[in-house]
Amino acid sequence: VVRINTAVAGTPISPHFYGLMTEEINYSYDGGLYAELIRNRAFRDDENQPVHWSLVQASGGAATMMLDRDSPIPGTALTTALKLDATGAASGRRVGVANDGYWGIPVKPGTTYRASFYARAVAGGAVPVRASIESSDGATVYASASIAGISGQWTKYSVQLTTPANLAPTTDARFVLSTEKPGTLLFNQVSLFPPTLNDRPNGLRPDLMKMMADMRPKFVRLPGGNYLEGDTVNTRFQWKQTLGPIEQRPGHMGTWRYRSSDGMGLLEFLTWTEDIGAEPLLAVFAGYALKGETIAAGPALQPYVDEALDEIEYVIGGVDTKWGAQRAKDGHPAPFKLNYIEIGNEDGFDKQKTYDGRFTQFYDAIKAKYPQLKLISTVNGLDSLGQRQHLSSRVPDLIDEHYYFDGRAGMEAAHRYDKYDRSRPKILIGEWATREGAPTTNMLGALGDAAFMTGMERNADIISMASYAPLFVNVNKGGMQWRSDLIGYDGLTSYGSPSYYAQKMFSEYLGTASLPLSAEGVPMQSWTPAERKNEAPKPPRDIPSLYFSATRDAQKGELYIKVVNTVATPQEVRIELDGAKQVLPTGGKVVLAAAAPDETNSIADPKHIVPVESPASGFAPSFSQTFAPYSVTVLKIALN
Ligand code: AHR
Repeated sequence: VVRINTAVAGTPISPHFYGLMTEEINYSYDGGLYAELIRNRAFRDDENQPVHWSLVQASGGAATMMLDRDSPIPGTALTTALKLDATGAASGRRVGVANDGYWGIPVKPGTTYRASFYARAVAGGAVPVRASIESSDGATVYASASIAGISGQWTKYSVQLTTPANLAPTTDARFVLSTEKPGTLLFNQVSLFPPTLNDRPNGLRPDLMKMMADMRPKFVRLPGGNYLEGDTVNTRFQWKQTLGPIEQRPGHMGTWRYRSSDGMGLLEFLTWTEDIGAEPLLAVFAGYALKGETIAAGPALQPYVDEALDEIEYVIGGVDTKWGAQRAKDGHPAPFKLNYIEIGNEDGFDKQKTYDGRFTQFYDAIKAKYPQLKLISTVNGLDSLGQRQHLSSRVPDLIDEHYYFDGRAGMEAAHRYDKYDRSRPKILIGEWATREGAPTTNMLGALGDAAFMTGMERNADIISMASYAPLFVNVNKGGMQWRSDLIGYDGLTSYGSPSYYAQKMFSEYLGTASLPLSAEGVPMQSWTPAERKNEAPKPPRDIPSLYFSATRDAQKGELYIKVVNTVATPQEVRIELDGAKQVLPTGGKVVLAAAAPDETNSIADPKHIVPVESPASGFAPSFSQTFAPYSVTVLKIALN
């Protein structure tokens, strides 16, 4: 029996409850959300060779290509060019360079691509160049355009390439710049964009933006994660180097074993959040880098505090401020919404235990200038996630806790906050995931996630915000650095994991207040916790097989009851709506279910597990419902 007290107004749910967490991991931006199709466009990905570029030579057309650092483009960050010696080119015998993109160039029918590149003819006079999108073997040209003559001065050239309407989509393609006239050419910042959301020139993939918008996120925690911190202080997310035209952005080595182009810079992050109806939860670098470098509180830390203050000014400052004016110059005069700043990321790993001082210095400086902003600590001293440091000098507005667990541990964690000390700061669960399945999670992951979310909603007085991580994965071989991701894609298509759909359901039917709920007589299931390195094996434990939350949308007069059945048998539940006067007998339900916990979605079978919406009946102040095996259900009940 589940008893829901509908007589009370309930606990208000934070208007920022569900959000997204993002960073450059699993080719989330380059090779993902950021629509650029050319990989290694500025030739900085590898110091020794032009990786992802190859020579195109018609038989008999001798040629070489190499990196060139002797011809930086003045006034830009473009220091390394690709030199093509095409002395063997001749009419009918082309020579060129080809880029293989992020696991191929995705070619779609009837599509216009924008190609651009810097070029300079070092020898051979004005050299004509052809830009083309073609099959990987060069046998089929899908689209091409000519540039009459590359001059002796660095110049930016732009062309449009339109594919025919009748071709079959493919990623087995490459982008080629070639010539039939002998000469020596330098290329830099070679770029190819497909159509982007809102037609932005440096824009984002529309399909992924839609998938995120469909989740109705209220915030995006950015730019990391580890990616914020960098392996070293120098490779942190240096936001000032991510602004302005892309030729001004040098890019940097990320924390997930590949270099970032920084085409996805701070302004792109901010417009992204705005485009999906969310706001940024801005994490600022706080003096601790992943490989252990720390900058202790005091004068040495001050430049980083100033960097954070400047960053906040860029986001919300008026156009009469230095960084607000820069934002206007970059194309967005209006300030963005901003309510939350996180100071660092997972600073509990700082072995030198300097967070208390660092947090204090950031806290005092930010609160002095922006008292309205809520400041988030990444440690709390009491977290169960291993060794955490104590934070004693200031009381944060929120504490960020991170959880990565297996399916049953996710279910057990549904009751974690029931006994939380209510006198302590409120919680952002800034990273969490039930790590079942790869690259994206399976139905067991969705069940663990849904169970955990019922716990978040029941404890909405203490949980203010939550964001799953990681959000994205490029499913091509080598694309994943971290398994159990929410949304998978290749160059052409994308799909949501069962967890994606569970989260979408929870977010869509969040409501405005959480109602008190008690469950009695719930059948238990036995679970043996996974063995952990350096820890004694744990004995099996009994955990519930069903999980519940109840929320109300006061404006709509609707009650949402979420039920997660985590086992192989259907389960009947009696639901008592205490205090309910008028219950409409008919309503609706949304069910996400699978035949087995390891069933999943994939690029080949993207809609294997999706929510099914249907009318429902039999609702009353006291009623029974049967919940399918391995299912997540939302009951929608009209209540007065
Ligand atoms: O989400 C993957 C990583 O997990 C994040 O970068 C980091 O914050 C956490 O350790």
